[in-house]
Amino acid sequence: MSAGEMRGIDRYDLTDQHTISRVIKGGWQLAGGHGSVDREQALADMRAFVEAGITTMDCADIYTGVEALIGAFLSRHEAAIERGDLPAVQVHTKYVPDRDALSTLSGEGVEAIIDRSRRRLGIERLDLVQFHWWDYDVPGYVDAALHLNRLRKAGKIKHVGVTNFDAAHLGEIVDAGVPVVSNQVQYSVLDQRPEGRMVDFCARHDIDLLCYGTVAGGFLTGRYLGVPEPEHPLENRSLTKYKLIIDDFGGWALFQELLETLQAIAEKHGASIATVATRYVLQKPRVAGVIVGARNTNHLDDTVQLFDFVLDAEDLSAIEAVQERSEGPGGTVYELERIKGGRHASIMKYNLNRT
Ligand SMILES: NC(=O)c1ccc[n+]([C@@H]2O[C@H](COP(=O)([O-])OP(=O)(O)OC[C@H]3O[C@@H](n4cnc5c(N)ncnc54)[C@H](OP(=O)(O)O)[C@@H]3O)[C@@H](O)[C@H]2O)c1
Repeated sequence: MSAGEMRGIDRYDLTDQHTISRVIKGGWQLAGGHGSVDREQALADMRAFVEAGITTMDCADIYTGVEALIGAFLSRHEAAIERGDLPAVQVHTKYVPDRDALSTLSGEGVEAIIDRSRRRLGIERLDLVQFHWWDYDVPGYVDAALHLNRLRKAGKIKHVGVTNFDAAHLGEIVDAGVPVVSNQVQYSVLDQRPEGRMVDFCARHDIDLLCYGTVAGGFLTGRYLGVPEPEHPLENRSLTKYKLIIDDFGGWALFQELLETLQAIAEKHGASIATVATRYVLQKPRVAGVIVGARNTNHLDDTVQLFDFVLDAEDLSAIEAVQERSEGPGGTVYELERIKGGRHASIMKYNLNRT
């Protein structure tokens, strides 16, 4: 399909007040640990994404410098957006209280962090605040979500979402009366933990999934097809994180079989391994959007082709045939990552929110 025939990026009504691009530009890759970031280049890249129809951006209070960078982008292009020369931008941030602070959280503390996000972004009312809680053994997540809901009622937040919650704990928050609209979770051809209980829960409560890890930090691309298993240390934090998922999936040999399968499907559709892997998630029930990490615009031309093809039953059963032989990752959403002292937990940074 030629550039002129491309469909562009689909959009999705997360609520009747909030429409997103189904591909969301991820911000973690600009927060350090993924190579140096040139501010002007990063701002120019954001513009390229928005012009391509990827108008929704994901960031977090703990992604160092990223809220401020998006704030600078918004203020630089405010007039162009107002004139309609540039599409409106939706910003999804997160509220990720430090693990060491979970037991002492207060309403004022929650509000101070939300106010800091509003200041950094230069936004009166945050579109979506996605709430993360490191440790279910520490009580307080329902109270923290209720604090966010109060800030929503006060007009500082438009919508409350969560990230990395499993169905049982999300249920407690919903039962307490917080109108949660989304759960940001890892979901990919390698990791189907959201399926089953989480997807059923979301269907019952009208909650949508926003998914990360769809290209496993770059592993689910042609770059890793037919290459030997990489040795540690890996190039960046994403690859370190997703290599653990590949290990859980069944190891490098099975991963190579998956890449070969994705490559065959990609050739059939004139697509790439990365877009086939991402498309797989986009076609899943309850998935509103995928968050694709971007250090630059290198993969933008590839990404915008996501809606130019559809995976058919034959494609899906070829992928399932490999998945059936996988060992994991098992458990509920983010369960492995919560194992204290576990492989996944050992690479995390827990206390990035100190001001
Ligand atoms: N809630 C959470 O706990 C959580 C956790 C992780 C991420 N996130 C969010 O999700 C976003 C995405 O992060 P992720 O971990 O899921 O990373 P990802 O999207 O799986 O991987 C991003 C990397 O994959 C490569 N890539 C992307 N598109 C490609 C394409 N079309 N072809 C070839 N390579 C491609 C690029 O690597 P190169 O630049 O090296 O080529 C890019 O930096 C983050 O920025 C963040 O906003 C949230």
